[in-house]
Amino acid sequence: MRNNTVKLLSTLLTLMFVHLAAGQPPASQLNLMPVPEKVELLAGKYRLDAGFTVRIAGAQSGRLVKGASRILDRLTGRTGLFLANPTSLLDASAPAAGMLLTAGRQGELAPLQDESYDLVITPDGIKMTAETDIGIIRGLETVLQLLDADENGYFFPAVRVHDKPRFPWRGLLIDAGRHFIPADIIRRNLDAMAAVKMNVLHWHLTEDQGFRIESKAFPKLHQLGSDGLYYTQAEIAGIVAYAGDRGIRVMPEFDLPGHATSWFVGYPELASAPGPYTIERKWGIFDPTFDPTREEIYQFLTTFFAEMATLFPDPCWHIGGDENKGHQWDANPEIQAFMRKNGLADNHALQNHFNMRLEKILDKLGKTMVGWYTDAPPELNKKYIIEVWKGREAMYDMVRRGYRSLLAYGFYIDLIQPTEYHYANDPIPVDSVLTEREKAMILGGEATMWAEFVGPETIDSRIWPRTAAIAERLWSQSEVKDVAEMFRRLAVVSVQLEELGLTHIKNFDMMLRRLAERHPVDELKRFVDVIEPMYTYSRDRPHVFKSHYPLTRVVDAALPDPPAAREFDLLVEGLIAGGKEQEECLKSLTIRLETLQADYPRLMETINGSPVLWEVRPLAEGLAVCTTIGLEALELVKKQQKPASAWIEIRLALLKKAQVPSGEAELLIAHSLEKLVKSMARPDSPPRK
Ligand code: ACM
Repeated sequence: MRNNTVKLLSTLLTLMFVHLAAGQPPASQLNLMPVPEKVELLAGKYRLDAGFTVRIAGAQSGRLVKGASRILDRLTGRTGLFLANPTSLLDASAPAAGMLLTAGRQGELAPLQDESYDLVITPDGIKMTAETDIGIIRGLETVLQLLDADENGYFFPAVRVHDKPRFPWRGLLIDAGRHFIPADIIRRNLDAMAAVKMNVLHWHLTEDQGFRIESKAFPKLHQLGSDGLYYTQAEIAGIVAYAGDRGIRVMPEFDLPGHATSWFVGYPELASAPGPYTIERKWGIFDPTFDPTREEIYQFLTTFFAEMATLFPDPCWHIGGDENKGHQWDANPEIQAFMRKNGLADNHALQNHFNMRLEKILDKLGKTMVGWYTDAPPELNKKYIIEVWKGREAMYDMVRRGYRSLLAYGFYIDLIQPTEYHYANDPIPVDSVLTEREKAMILGGEATMWAEFVGPETIDSRIWPRTAAIAERLWSQSEVKDVAEMFRRLAVVSVQLEELGLTHIKNFDMMLRRLAERHPVDELKRFVDVIEPMYTYSRDRPHVFKSHYPLTRVVDAALPDPPAAREFDLLVEGLIAGGKEQEECLKSLTIRLETLQADYPRLMETINGSPVLWEVRPLAEGLAVCTTIGLEALELVKKQQKPASAWIEIRLALLKKAQVPSGEAELLIAHSLEKLVKSMARPDSPPRK
């Protein structure tokens, strides 16, 4: 068994079987996520009571006042304490404050800001100092995560924390183009980002399927390109301010020259082929592309960008630039003539020409251009920041060529990959051969929530809690990589995110309740607990998706990397490995399989009674096969009997069948049981107790 697995398993078994003694945990057992740079436990506790007050000394800012008020709000929400005097934030004459916050200056919303903070908690109170108010905002989240309780009530453990991020850019991309994500959902995700110290919302606002922002200069953009689903300028301004209060930058993305169909519905003259155009309803890569050869295009974009720049103060501006196949360019004789005349050898050269024109427009607006486009020509200003999404080698190549880079590759949370995989995706691994100068050009990374298969009801569960692990990867030191520890803290943080209104946990129950209609739901929940949506890039195979298709099915309720299935797999690994934990694994697996087996009749009743569930009937039947095989296998292990090879062959064939996806979801425990049955074929099996 890998070291990781041993630790994960022992953490799981500890949680399951041992009632942890109350008391001060060691520093490593605190529930801090991301893990700070330095944490030292001191003696004692600071008790929280209704007399708790916060005072802001040093530089004053609205961000600090609002930040401290939010923390007080969440403290009272968590503890049920009736704080007597929550309004004394700025009252310098107030006697000793429970928490004293001292910022040196107001931080700017720009890359490379100082976000460090120093926090000292003693039995007498909490003191935090930081160079900027943004540092204080980061530290306040640490304070909240330190809140603990014992038999005498709530307290903060006495600690000394010195903290700063490893990478200055820790982003979350939200794609509001493919499915519109309303403003309140953006806001609660900003709260969640702040809770795990992320600092950039990368807002993907335009796509083939939707133009999601109001333009007063070119109103047909949102009027004809969005089905009425767009952010008003007032909403945008509100969100940018909301983010700023949390020390989060908002970088807009207007994806050009491809992924641009929705622009052309209202303004077909911008495209490289005559219209008319309609909003795209399918997913994929489409032909409509800006015409980079006509001056009117640049006039249009100059006006449009200037309008948008009044809404987005951030110094960075994402131009997209991905997935342009250039088909419209190839088919347009005038564009071909332009290329010949200007010595542009191919479509890459033409796109570079386009990018350089965009960069000049953005430069005048004081914006640094960011893009997905990795084919940066030598002439492009070295200010250009490249977001790498097609493999990390491209990033190393770019920093060697002198471009600052961001890593999105490996952080594609839309794909439904394990948390552990994202967590291991260190932008600068310890064995990196980059020079220090090159390393410094890697600004950080972004979790990317592409929205083909998410909507308002499901987006939180695709982002959280996995993105908290990514946040830790980007904030904490590279040595912080213990997966068992990460999962332990992630479970705590995940529940805390609910206090911010996130729906990643509660919508699971709600959606299944709705799917079950009036039929029993508990069995359905335990079933969906062990299934997972298919890997996203495989989902288009059963049928070609369209943007209006439902996002309310079992596959949408099912969670990425579901904890129950992960635990099941760990227990199987523990059983296979033998050793002292084997007995406990055997016991726990037996209980889980017996429960799932006993669920089957009522599960089928629910599935049969609700037609929307029929598509997962094969998975439920597969589950029945799995429980039978699993319990047979456990019985053999218990009796220390080795199965006949025919038994193994038949079971493996049945388990393979149970692994076939249905309703675009798959039964994860069928994979775990395959491991178990295969292990029984080994000469040393069954493992000795
Ligand atoms: C991308 O995933 N097309 C940037």
